[in-house]
Amino acid sequence: MNWDHLVELAWKTRLNAHAPYSRFQVGAALLASDGRVFTGCNVENLSYGLTMCAERVAIGAAVAAGVTRFEAVAVVADTGVPISPCGACRQVLAEFGVPRVLLANRTERMEFTMEALLPRASAGILDRAL
Ligand code: THU
Repeated sequence: MNWDHLVELAWKTRLNAHAPYSRFQVGAALLASDGRVFTGCNVENLSYGLTMCAERVAIGAAVAAGVTRFEAVAVVADTGVPISPCGACRQVLAEFGVPRVLLANRTERMEFTMEALLPRASAGILDRAL
């Protein structure tokens, strides 16, 4: 896994974050199975609850391009410890089976499996046991 490339793209995309309310900028770079990379930054809104996280923006960009199979995602922010994706983003990343997640700040990287970040994400849902 070439994390360096993904991390670099995530930092670059972070610069486009629309975060006038929190002033907290996040970037994400999502590697698809076909080798393409889709990026995202957080997009906030005056109606706070409408805010879109960087991870979900990246997923949306990929899906809109017809891409739904992924290998990994890198998420970056200028934080004291590597950023932690919110629960909603974990669920969305799990929906598309993104297997590996790298969380980074300026100096540190932490790698997780999706299963570690959200165990049993969809187990049992819509599974009609007889
Ligand atoms: N945010 C993300 O974009 N990704 C994360 O993993 C955590 C939080 C955004 C949402 C909001 O715009 C700002 O960071 C503060 O929560």
